[in-house]
Amino acid sequence: MKTSIKQVLESTAFDTDFTVNGWVRNRRINKNLAFISLNDGSCAGNLQIVVDFDKIPEENIKGIGTGACLRIKGTLVKSVGQGQDRDIAAKEVHIYGLADGETYPLQPRKHSLEFIRENAHLRSRTTVFSSVFRVRHALAYAVHKYFNDKGFYYINAPIITASDAEGAGEMFRVTTLDLNNPARNKEDGSINFKEDFFGKSTHLTVSGQLEGELMALGLGNIYTFGPTFRAENSNTTRHLAEFWMIEPEMAFFELEDNMALAEDFMKYVIKYAVDNCDADLQILQERLLEEEKAKKEDERSPMPLLEKLNFVVNNDFEKVTYTEAIEILLNSNHYKKKKFKYDVKWGIDLQSEHERFLVEKHFKKPVIITNYPKDIKAFYMKQNDDNKTVRAMDVLFPGIGEIIGGSQREEILEKLETRMKEMNIPTDEMWWYLDTRRFGTAPHSGFGLGFERLVLFVSGMTNIRDVIPFPRSPKNADF
Ligand code: 4AD
Ligand code: MG
Repeated sequence: MKTSIKQVLESTAFDTDFTVNGWVRNRRINKNLAFISLNDGSCAGNLQIVVDFDKIPEENIKGIGTGACLRIKGTLVKSVGQGQDRDIAAKEVHIYGLADGETYPLQPRKHSLEFIRENAHLRSRTTVFSSVFRVRHALAYAVHKYFNDKGFYYINAPIITASDAEGAGEMFRVTTLDLNNPARNKEDGSINFKEDFFGKSTHLTVSGQLEGELMALGLGNIYTFGPTFRAENSNTTRHLAEFWMIEPEMAFFELEDNMALAEDFMKYVIKYAVDNCDADLQILQERLLEEEKAKKEDERSPMPLLEKLNFVVNNDFEKVTYTEAIEILLNSNHYKKKKFKYDVKWGIDLQSEHERFLVEKHFKKPVIITNYPKDIKAFYMKQNDDNKTVRAMDVLFPGIGEIIGGSQREEILEKLETRMKEMNIPTDEMWWYLDTRRFGTAPHSGFGLGFERLVLFVSGMTNIRDVIPFPRSPKNADF
């Protein structure tokens, strides 16, 4: 078994020998000593290796520079130098692979995020990105732990589907038909999907919710955590074409229960990261401070990263209805001074400038907005008696905007069918979904958390492409 650098950095066994492996982050030579900082991804810290040329000839380490991969055997000693409390005094240096300093893209100096994104295949070897991905892992683990401890079952919704869960139509087609010569219907020449692999038209899923509902209406409380796909052509810092979504669905849950669960869940996973990722979050906090130096005073985050995370954990989310939110916007000086680009009136889909105003300027904390107009929300949301609004909830976070979307579901068969017809959702193809309302229907609710938006918030990164290992976005499917 190898020893990780994390274990060595935490060990108190001075004067003992260890064998570690890792990649060189930096190397310098001072007289007859070489100092190599080695990192193996096990933690944020580097381990300093000291090579004494009296013991290991200088030519044995010739060519070792940033990016080289080494195995080191040596003794753990107290450091005499500054910056670290311990070194490994090398006894053996084995080179697995050198990295030519002329062509290796990652140099010890600072690179722009844009540059590293273009070299995403190597970014697990950088300080910032290895921290981001360790935090991402911790959050994923916390998601499973939270739901498991609460008695929820983890369900895998299908990735290939014949239904459009959100009714928004932003889907990627899945087909094995020959694009140059697809099967066509005799009558009108349209594509004949009966000849396709599944015998019908299929897509990559935009959400596992509908299947989640089927499971919850039997198992009680379930959650999905899987990849979802949206072919929306949004080239923003908040959108991906492939992202991971966590979708809990609960039987016998009303909107109020749904809101309470969403708030408790968000606080839990954020606190988990704060409690378990301190070294990584310190690095990410420093990075953010550095990035914001270039920004104008009023565009900077009001709090350093860790303070912001603790603030969210320790304060109640604000709760307002959509109608109240519109009132707040209309009464704001921002609106009166015509500073919004998009118009504000009851019925609009809130634009991100509106959401950010509410969260960042008005409430200065996470906000849950409920009871949206039915016309801007999906067909499955429970209709209110006013005939105008649905029992929807969006959770908005500072710096992110919408992080969660959810609702109580319409459980009354007739109401659901009528709404589907109004919105041109094929009720015959969705017979299986309607069966849950036909047989033993029950009040139920759920929500979807965009996992990358959560990682974005916790890591303090500013572009969603920097928090998923291999981002997929319009005109980009590299690596
Ligand atoms: O609000 P959305 O579209 O809701 C649903 O899909 C529901 N079926 C969820 C449910 O009730 N079970 O998406 C949910 C969340 C958003 O709030 C956002 O965080 C994230 O998914 N999201 C995206 N994240 C990254 N890139 C995109 N293109 C995203 N679209 C949505
Ligand atoms: Mg939404």
